Amino acid sequence: MILVTGATGNVGAEVVHTLAAEGEPVRALSRSGETVGLPPGVEAVAGDLNRPETVRESLDGVRAVFLMPGYEGQRAVLADARAAGVERVVMLSGKSAKVVDDNAVTRYLRASENEVRESGLSWTFLRPVSFMSNALSLADQITKGDEVRVPFPGVRTADIDPSDIARVAARALLSPEHGGRAYTLTGPQSLLPSDRVAVLAEVLGRDLRTVGLTDEETREALRAAFPAPYAEAFLRFFGDGILDESQVLPTVEEVTGRPPRTFLEWARQHANAF
Ligand SMILES: NC(=O)c1ccc[n+]([C@@H]2O[C@H](COP(=O)([O-])OP(=O)(O)OC[C@H]3O[C@@H](n4cnc5c(N)ncnc54)[C@H](OP(=O)(O)O)[C@@H]3O)[C@@H](O)[C@H]2O)c1
Repeated sequence: MILVTGATGNVGAEVVHTLAAEGEPVRALSRSGETVGLPPGVEAVAGDLNRPETVRESLDGVRAVFLMPGYEGQRAVLADARAAGVERVVMLSGKSAKVVDDNAVTRYLRASENEVRESGLSWTFLRPVSFMSNALSLADQITKGDEVRVPFPGVRTADIDPSDIARVAARALLSPEHGGRAYTLTGPQSLLPSDRVAVLAEVLGRDLRTVGLTDEETREALRAAFPAPYAEAFLRFFGDGILDESQVLPTVEEVTGRPPRTFLEWARQHANAF
């Protein structure tokens, strides 16, 4: 049995589907214990990672855990996992975990990785760059008109499809050979925000026009969308340029045997969200 936390999220839901498609018994954990959209046979459970006592029972009979990072109860959840006989944990981290900077994101990712290293469980860290699904934040603008205002217009990133993170996660959950590895994961192309808008325009058959936000507008937009410490972290990463996500890496293909999906493929699959 594999326990997948964050099971209704961008990555967790894909991990659940990938494992279920391979015939693995899966338990899908979220606070709601949502069952809608789960493949047949997957067991939905409710649990709050900030309250370890609500997760404990879900660890029964589990051999590997897909873990979301940064929750307050993490150390206790890991200790309970060890006590329950769990063998390994695959944690969703981020490329920014490697950046030497003291901001809200690097702090929680580094602390989460350290707790996992100290847990005594075999571990694998997945350190993806930005997700292609972040483009869903443009959906509101796109449904309203053809002008698409984007933050950090000059920053190239090799965004990854969450389903590719999930395919790597599945390999690491099912085989011991990935223990002690930290995988930096990227998509297949390094694109500007305007390149992604052009792909969306093609897929949607629309005449979309990218307008780059100025530095000040980017700051305002991030502060409106995220709690202040996270907005500041993103400004450090992409405004000050301390996080480079432009490089395309071969890791997804090396681990899974298949190249990662392009933004065009992601956009076609999610076209009706726009
Ligand atoms: N977006 C990016 O570009 C990017 C890049 C690199 C790394 N990351 C990392 O990826 C992670 C986010 O992944 P995602 O986009 O797949 O997540 P997501 O779509 O935001 O989903 C979060 C999941 O966690 C569950 N959840 C939230 N609070 C919980 C709690 N207290 N206890 C148990 N479950 C809880 C949610 O379900 P319920 O609400 O029902 O509980 C949901 O299933 C973050 O840690 C981020 O640092 C993101």
